[in-house]
Amino acid sequence: KALVALAQKMPKTELHLHIEGTFEADQMFAIAQRNKVDLKYKTVEELKAAYQFTQLQDFLDLYYQGMSVLLHEVDFYDLTMAYLEKVHSENVVHVEIFFDPQGHLSRGVPFEIQISGIYNALQDAGKKWGMTSKLIMSFLRHLSEESAFETLEQAKPFIKWIDGIGLDSSELGHPPKKFTNVFKACRDLRLKITAHAGEEGPPEYVWQAIDIIKVDRIDHGNRALEDELLIAEIKKRDLTLTVCPLSNLKLCVVTDMKQHPIRSMLELGLNATINSDDPAYFGGYMNDNYTALIEKTGINKEELFQLAKNGISCSWMDKTAKEIHL
Ligand code: HPA
Ligand code: ZN
Repeated sequence: KALVALAQKMPKTELHLHIEGTFEADQMFAIAQRNKVDLKYKTVEELKAAYQFTQLQDFLDLYYQGMSVLLHEVDFYDLTMAYLEKVHSENVVHVEIFFDPQGHLSRGVPFEIQISGIYNALQDAGKKWGMTSKLIMSFLRHLSEESAFETLEQAKPFIKWIDGIGLDSSELGHPPKKFTNVFKACRDLRLKITAHAGEEGPPEYVWQAIDIIKVDRIDHGNRALEDELLIAEIKKRDLTLTVCPLSNLKLCVVTDMKQHPIRSMLELGLNATINSDDPAYFGGYMNDNYTALIEKTGINKEELFQLAKNGISCSWMDKTAKEIHL
């Protein structure tokens, strides 16, 4: 189909991507073997058969298991480079990726090991292909604010490599306001701020992300559509939503791709972008997300262009870099 070919060719950005969520089963088994770590699943097929989720937590349980084979700097480098090669082949020109340091610190993997592997891969992608990038450190919201503060301390020697701070993991029961103080400290360090909000959590959590955490953008934000005043506030503040269609389908945030609200978001004038979240687990990378929307939602060419343009203009690239792409 012509629209699919067009979507593949458009220069795209990825603004919502968890690097640990790009861990393909075959690479996971290869690294497990080289690190002599035992996985609970015996074969790639057995592991993949478990990728059936009815809610966010089902996925997270597997996601934390998967990342547990990452031990050495080269593991983080290989994981990141495999992802970058993949999306380079899909005409992604700029990535802003999350990593979850607490998911590795808790297993005794030092912060420096994690960030060096990821950062060096991002640098190499810049040298090889001119791909640009930002790195976002995420706090795990099921852990305490104190733990987030300790993580921020560990990050300080590497703060020049970190562009922004995010908030992810189990949303329900862990509202943004739980992290009021640590995000204040992050803002004082002049870091950009984003938070997962309104994926499973209610519109109230999106309000908190805006009013208390003072986010520069919102990850997911689907449930903001339930609240008209909230929609108006997001527009007034010109905030971006990093929307993840295949993730929404896999985690039952939408029941059917035909029901995905992306076109309504554009219709409302929201700065929506298309992203892949955890592509190894959710059935596809950037172009697969576009293809699913084209095949199921009746999205048109103008809307596709708008989404790709939003991806550039809503990114954290500097102004001149944006002008080059737009
Ligand atoms: N939501 C919350 N936490 C996450 C996700 C997500 O989609 N992916 C990785 N951590
Ligand atoms: Zn996410």
